[in-house]
Amino acid sequence: MSDSTAVINLDIEGPTISRHLYGHFAEHLGRCVYGGFWVGQDSPIPNEGGIRLDVVEALRALHIPNLRWPGGCFADEYHWKDGIGPREQRPTMVNTHWGDVEENNHFGTHEFMALCELLGAEPYINGNVGSGTVQEMSEWVEYLTRAGDSPMVRLRKANGRQEPWRVKFWGIGNETWGCGGNMRAEYSADLARQYATYCRDHGDNKLYRIASGASDADYKWTETLMQQISCFGCEATPRNFFQGISLHYYTLSGPWEAKGSATVFDTDDYYRTMAAAQRIDRIIAGHSTVMDVYDPGRTVGLVLDEWGTWWDVEPGTNPGFLFQQNTLRDALVASTHFDIFHKHAARLHMANIAQTVNVLQAMVLTDGDALVLTPTYHVFEMNKGHQDATSLTVHLKSDRSRRTVGDAELETLSASASVKDGAVLISLSNLDAEEPARVTLDLRGGAIGGTTGRILTADKLQDHNAPGTPETVAPRPFDDLRTTDQGLVLTLPPHSFVTVQGRLA
Ligand code: AHR
Repeated sequence: MSDSTAVINLDIEGPTISRHLYGHFAEHLGRCVYGGFWVGQDSPIPNEGGIRLDVVEALRALHIPNLRWPGGCFADEYHWKDGIGPREQRPTMVNTHWGDVEENNHFGTHEFMALCELLGAEPYINGNVGSGTVQEMSEWVEYLTRAGDSPMVRLRKANGRQEPWRVKFWGIGNETWGCGGNMRAEYSADLARQYATYCRDHGDNKLYRIASGASDADYKWTETLMQQISCFGCEATPRNFFQGISLHYYTLSGPWEAKGSATVFDTDDYYRTMAAAQRIDRIIAGHSTVMDVYDPGRTVGLVLDEWGTWWDVEPGTNPGFLFQQNTLRDALVASTHFDIFHKHAARLHMANIAQTVNVLQAMVLTDGDALVLTPTYHVFEMNKGHQDATSLTVHLKSDRSRRTVGDAELETLSASASVKDGAVLISLSNLDAEEPARVTLDLRGGAIGGTTGRILTADKLQDHNAPGTPETVAPRPFDDLRTTDQGLVLTLPPHSFVTVQGRLA
């Protein structure tokens, strides 16, 4: 068993952890939108205007702050005017990226905005640069956010919506280095400036424009974008062309061609996965360092708008639909990501797990009218108290919570903490597959009372939830909290995630 001390200064406040670090992503991909969020008004599955209510209810409990849509790669072949007006009159198209299936455009702008309203989430709309036009994107912003009278306002009103919506987060293309147009960074940066120019702030609706950014450790891409941020000729008040730049990072346990099964893996696969998950720390730090050179005042946000695990699809399912199961391993990938996100909260403005329903590292999986909550869902739920809280730095002192995985070092103990309105939340993950971890919480600069704990673990790392066994991996109360002279002592079982809550005394 490892023995560690976590020193937490309750009176030294770090940056605010934006609730948008707990953001989500829904693409027209496989069964994420169709069958996941959208079942249509005639479905026997309970719905409101076609939107599936059991999914909404599950996600509302997470307080999901924002939802990115319609892609992903799909965003760069999506033409928004195909998705408005009477549904039976909407044109169809082929979703060439994902399964080569026909898309009937029944879920479009109005349906997405209705979904966001039901979820209580802010919309994050990703516009089309790869195969769209500047005019098309500019008109979409006008259609959504302009009041009064204008061609797009008249079109919106003709489709039944009088008042403009509020939309803040706006993506300018997706993966322009790849599926979004196979561009060079320089060309993509020029397009981002051009498109951003015509994505107007209508009235008091202020856009947060997010330029299509790097993948993984492509710091050069970020540098090229950062060299282009300043728009001195834009307006009376100089502003940046874009307020955020995106980053994508997926966790795999090995090479892309051999991703492996979501549920059948061994301990070595598990440790490789955890080491890959923790790489996000160095990657965010690398992009942040580049951004600091051009933007020392940190006015531009880093937006990790795609992250999560990517496994082989479940046997017998469409390879283009990216449907994968979700085990305790996925949950621990999520919990360690969040500790790292909290640490980088000053620069990291948003993060969106890919994807919310039935695709990649999902929160919920549906099968007909059945719905299960995944282990990853429970991490989001147990951690929701960190949203918009003030981060508290956690210093870990340990001799044995480190293991070498290939050429990487894995920290097998991961932690973060925050305080909000006097409520302290401490998250701890023991990533060791076999050994428990004893941790002493050495709280300084204050004290907390009324502590309670919750734990997410299972017998095996491969354990997961399914319609017949929905609670195999679910949070349980954790009361192994002992007050000693050194602090609050707890022992985390192997492969477990624990949260401790209390109030500042
Ligand atoms: O999330 C699945 C896909 O991964 C997205 O469409 C794309 O942006 C990324 O490559």
